[in-house]
Amino acid sequence: MRITAVSGSPRVEGVTNSILLDILEKAAEKGHFGKVVVLNRLELHGCQACGYCRTEGDKCAVDDKISALIEELPETDVVLVGSPVYMGNVSAQLKMFIDRLYCLKDAERKPRLKPKRCLLVFAQGAGDKAYYQNMFNQVKKTLDGYNLLVEDIIVATGKDYKSDPEVQKKVEHFCSTL
Ligand SMILES: Cc1cc2nc3c(=O)[nH]c(=O)nc-3n(C[C@H](O)[C@H](O)[C@H](O)COP(=O)(O)O)c2cc1C
Repeated sequence: MRITAVSGSPRVEGVTNSILLDILEKAAEKGHFGKVVVLNRLELHGCQACGYCRTEGDKCAVDDKISALIEELPETDVVLVGSPVYMGNVSAQLKMFIDRLYCLKDAERKPRLKPKRCLLVFAQGAGDKAYYQNMFNQVKKTLDGYNLLVEDIIVATGKDYKSDPEVQKKVEHFCSTL
């Protein structure tokens, strides 16, 4: 299986990236391969709302690394999407990526992508995992609409995700299904 992990955290050794890397490491032990794309390392552009992808072409008109990443998605079996919680939302970097998924629907608003397995990973400072549940559910709903079918949402609080049994259980469970 090919796995693409998209990270909205600018902290390369932060919680989001570490969990994504842990999943890829476990997946690699089972013979799968993948990569973590740290959006912050790319020159990012938001959606320009030009409508090209819906009316003229079937791709995004913006020529950058996010378009290249989105064009790789059809060849990907599993998509991991991770973000720190910033001001009660996803990071600006991840939001730009999510907006750019707009090109993955056609003029009839039908998804262009075949259904993909997807896992969401969030890192937050707040101790209450349910505090941002509405936001997490909204991101899930949006991604589901683009055929990135979110199977689970992992929420890590603070820095010590390795000793959080729920995070570890969810990571193990997802990896066991690969
Ligand atoms: C700009 C900024 C905004 C943040 N806003 C929130 C927030 O609204 N709620 C929260 O629980 N944590 C918030 N945090 C804390 C981060 O979500 C937390 O440190 C997280 O673990 C960072 O993830 P990372 O290690 O993957 O970078 C914020 C941190 C920053 C830098």
